[in-house]
Amino acid sequence: MIDVSRLAEAGSPEELLVRRLDLERLPRHVAIIMDGNGRWARARGLPRVHGHRAGVEAVRDTVEAAARLELDVLTLYAFSVENWKRPRYEVWALMNLLKEYLRRELPTLIENGIRFSPLGRWRELDPSVVAALETALDATRDCSGMQLNIAVNYSGRCEIVDACRQIVSDWASGKGTDIDEETMGRYLYTAGQADPDLMIRTSGESRISNFMLWQCAYSEFDFVDTLWPDFRRRHLYEAILDYQRRERRYGAVSDPSRDRESEASARAERASEVD
Ligand code: FPP
Repeated sequence: MIDVSRLAEAGSPEELLVRRLDLERLPRHVAIIMDGNGRWARARGLPRVHGHRAGVEAVRDTVEAAARLELDVLTLYAFSVENWKRPRYEVWALMNLLKEYLRRELPTLIENGIRFSPLGRWRELDPSVVAALETALDATRDCSGMQLNIAVNYSGRCEIVDACRQIVSDWASGKGTDIDEETMGRYLYTAGQADPDLMIRTSGESRISNFMLWQCAYSEFDFVDTLWPDFRRRHLYEAILDYQRRERRYGAVSDPSRDRESEASARAERASEVD
């Protein structure tokens, strides 16, 4: 049961947003492309890494709010396979921020029953980063609350390639099964998790940037102008409100009964023409 009093301070603007949320119709999985750290820093005349550091506070606030909303899954895109093209110092700083975040937040994650998983080719990272990720993964394995995924050294295309390689290898060792959409889902990094219902990208960019390409087939997208370091729980609540105003049709029609009526009248019209 969601404790509404923990979602926002009484009398705060966040509380007004929370009151408008339909808590029975929350997205199960929210995925976020955290973007705009560099621009946030540049606007303040600071080096880019200051933007990343400020972004960690946004991560903390968002994780806390998502867990209190009892979302099933929150996925954050922290570092893509393409991000290796950035200056070495920036990559180093990002890896250190990730390690520091995990070290500092692990007790809070455990306390709140949050299960952590890295998504991506994370085992190829520096051993110190792998160790930090493994520690958090192991320590939260039995947690039964929200699933927190952090995509690191991640690429949606690589994820599909990795899944295909594993399927082929299982076939070669006699463990092959029918290959259908359900099978593919079981071989992805997100096996067993619901696909994202809502995908948010900050900083005004409207791109998918190689993120959860298979899983976002029917996600609702929300491109918000806020730069990631300024993102707070109210922005998450606003995005969920926007999501709840949308109609998800999954390729079907919105009101089949109205459609049946118009089909019947078309049939009647055709029949009268024949007469
Ligand atoms: C994109 O902004 C952001 C990233 C590539 C990294 C995101 C990392 C963090 C928020 C901090 C560490 C993460 C965790 C989970 C603790 P950008 O640099 O591309 O911004 P720009 O488009 O304005 O240049």
